[in-house]
Amino acid sequence: MTVPAAPRSFPDGFTWGSATASYQIEGAATEGGRGPSIWDTFSHTPGKVLGGDTGDVAVDHYHRYEEDLDAMKAMGLGAYRFSIAWPRVQPGGRGPLNPEGVAFYSKLLDGLIARGIKPVATLYHWDLPQELEDEGGWTARETALRFEEYARLIVAALGDRVHTWTTFNEPWCTAYLGYASGVHAPGRHDGAAALAAVHHLNLAHGLAGRAIRELAPNAQLSITLNLHVIRPRSSSTDDARAVQRLDDLGNGAFLGPLLDGAYPERLFGDTAKTTDWSFVLDGDLELINIPIDVLGINYYSTTRVALWDGVSDRVMADGHGDSPYSPWVDCDDIDFLVQPGPYTAMGWNIDPSGMTELLLRTSKAYPHQPMMITENGAAFDDVVVDEDGVARIHDPLRVDYLSRHIDAVGVAMDAGADVRGYFLWSLLDNFEWSYGYSKRFGIIGVDFDTQVRTWKDSALWYQELIRTHQLPA
Ligand code: NOJ
Repeated sequence: MTVPAAPRSFPDGFTWGSATASYQIEGAATEGGRGPSIWDTFSHTPGKVLGGDTGDVAVDHYHRYEEDLDAMKAMGLGAYRFSIAWPRVQPGGRGPLNPEGVAFYSKLLDGLIARGIKPVATLYHWDLPQELEDEGGWTARETALRFEEYARLIVAALGDRVHTWTTFNEPWCTAYLGYASGVHAPGRHDGAAALAAVHHLNLAHGLAGRAIRELAPNAQLSITLNLHVIRPRSSSTDDARAVQRLDDLGNGAFLGPLLDGAYPERLFGDTAKTTDWSFVLDGDLELINIPIDVLGINYYSTTRVALWDGVSDRVMADGHGDSPYSPWVDCDDIDFLVQPGPYTAMGWNIDPSGMTELLLRTSKAYPHQPMMITENGAAFDDVVVDEDGVARIHDPLRVDYLSRHIDAVGVAMDAGADVRGYFLWSLLDNFEWSYGYSKRFGIIGVDFDTQVRTWKDSALWYQELIRTHQLPA
């Protein structure tokens, strides 16, 4: 196990949190007036999720939130990042709020505040009301307008108790995994649709951001992006061009409009076969470019790519490494390479240097933009052991992963990156999207049959880190 060479202290004001998302933990899919979301439909479609798993019950957080709040308090969390299920509070994505759905989040907020934990609420962590998908989903501009209405209603109802409002979690996944590679709901394969979704998600952020500013002027405004660290196979100009194209599609397509007020110019040429970008209307970019208080960044691993010459054998990774874009978004000539290990149980390579690189790069590009790591963590194959009648989960690989990545955040801060907090993914084992319950990211283990929660060693380790504000050597 590799640990930082010396203990590392973090500033007193640094926020230590943990994160979850509605569909991954709540369950109660048909209770309290909740309507169906695209993930209900997708997970109930045979072949879409490993083992046929669904979020119907998940980890039953809807009924067990008090117990989960107590665990957060015992851990010493300064903040908790969760998401609001749009179909729970506004079933169908239109019309008045559902009071029962709002009541659930209201109780959650009260419970957090009573325990001294800052609420960080995400408006959209992938569970779009199915009815809106039936009308085109994120490929339709109307969905951005519906999202603004939803934001206005829910922020008016809860706004004063939320410390930080986050509009979207990883819009990259919604657009490209949802509409291009189709491994996420709604499972479509259409490059033009994915790029339209990119823009409408950005637009929805701007519209909702404006509503949050108006209705919750004391709250912080943020968005969470899964920014990519993309490395070339070689130093060739071809491989550098592959990196640049993916950087524009994966990073620039969001950071550009959000923080610079423009899409990267090259993106239009690179995607010309797929789309003419006519869905970008006058005034959209000004709306999207609303200043945010903090940029949320999720980081797990790195990507390595090469330009394919069309002749040699392809070197693409299999399984998880397949391209999320090609052949749908004009990059069929780019290979995604198998990365050197070690790997987590997701098959993702472990490379904390990517965390430092990403924070420093972003901080250099946007020197006045505070940042926050809104997700970082790892799935491993945990084993529950019985020690004198007490269930224990020893997860040294997770502790090692977390320790090295938190150290990497500290390295970036030492070099000047303005990072305000770190949210560990995840508080609890949960529904890992198309992998179902087969992958465990939690620092609190959950027996999916009994719903019994067991703190892993990593939870005790995190508790100690939070108490001391210090990463042990
Ligand atoms: C990103 C997503 O926001 C979250 O929902 C997911 O479970 C983790 N990464 C791990 O894949």
